[in-house]
Amino acid sequence: MTTLVTGATGHLGRLVIAGLLERGAEPSSIVAGVRDLARAADLSALGVRTAVVDYDRPETVAAALEDVDTVLLISGSEVGRRVDQHRAVIDAAVAAGVSKFVYTSAPQAPTSALILAPEHKATEELIAASGLPAVILRNNWYTENYAGDLAQARETGTIAASVGDGRVASASRRDFADAAAVVLLEDGHVGQAYELGGDVAWTFDDLAAALTEVVGRPVEYRALSTEEHAAALEAAGLDAGTVGFVTALDAGIRDGALAHTDGTLARLIGRPTTPLVEGLRTVA
Ligand SMILES: NC(=O)c1ccc[n+]([C@@H]2O[C@H](COP(=O)([O-])OP(=O)(O)OC[C@H]3O[C@@H](n4cnc5c(N)ncnc54)[C@H](OP(=O)(O)O)[C@@H]3O)[C@@H](O)[C@H]2O)c1
Repeated sequence: MTTLVTGATGHLGRLVIAGLLERGAEPSSIVAGVRDLARAADLSALGVRTAVVDYDRPETVAAALEDVDTVLLISGSEVGRRVDQHRAVIDAAVAAGVSKFVYTSAPQAPTSALILAPEHKATEELIAASGLPAVILRNNWYTENYAGDLAQARETGTIAASVGDGRVASASRRDFADAAAVVLLEDGHVGQAYELGGDVAWTFDDLAAALTEVVGRPVEYRALSTEEHAAALEAAGLDAGTVGFVTALDAGIRDGALAHTDGTLARLIGRPTTPLVEGLRTVA
């Protein structure tokens, strides 16, 4: 079996490859799909094969899929351009006749009101229409997303957001990467769409308490209205598009878009997910 991991020089991609190797995959059975081969020299040194995979250049995807039967498509990072980019990988996977196609999606993508969900929903629909034997990994937030709050907490002793009492079932990237590695290596997952999140759905008061432990000073959560939040972000110099994006994400959290947790991630990886405090300590 040969597995292509796209986005392999990204944070998640590198951890997936580490997870595959830890689980006994032969380095030569892994193809690291990257845009810049020079940034994958460390992977080559491990014996992992490398190939250029640029979603904007479909010919690179087709070439990388030669001799590959399993694919992990890590969703791209260029919001607004991702459906066409993902389509290029899906089309190439169909042409190559892969036997398992795994995609990193967003929580409850088909029904979620989260601002990031539509591109994932559209990608899931393309995958379903393609007939590929697929597994969907609907990853909740990475705990690492709160690196900025950690820095702010350390500096000011406060974090501010417009999420109200919304909860986030985050887990560490490592947890999501291990789940991807399990699903890539094991039989029996095709046809599943897994909602993957941390074991605990925490509030921002919980986040402040966790940050208090990590930064070693009292940290308080200031709950802002959307308008107050937008004004604070504007005052900090963010452009209107970014302000709208950040406040929309917070509105999604307030409305419960990231609150779902059912233990699926822990079951897949065979251990509890990384607790919030521990995940934040790693970030620190
Ligand atoms: N669940 C969450 O909390 C969360 C948070 C942030 C992002 N995400 C999503 O999860 C994905 C993986 O997360 P991450 O932390 O690993 O992000 P990341 O470190 O930014 O990695 C993104 C990867 O996508 C690759 N990529 C971007 N555009 C591409 C293109 N046109 N063709 C081929 N590869 C392309 C990048 O390639 P290079 O290495 O060449 O730059 C990089 O390897 C992100 O791309 C995003 O869709 C999820």
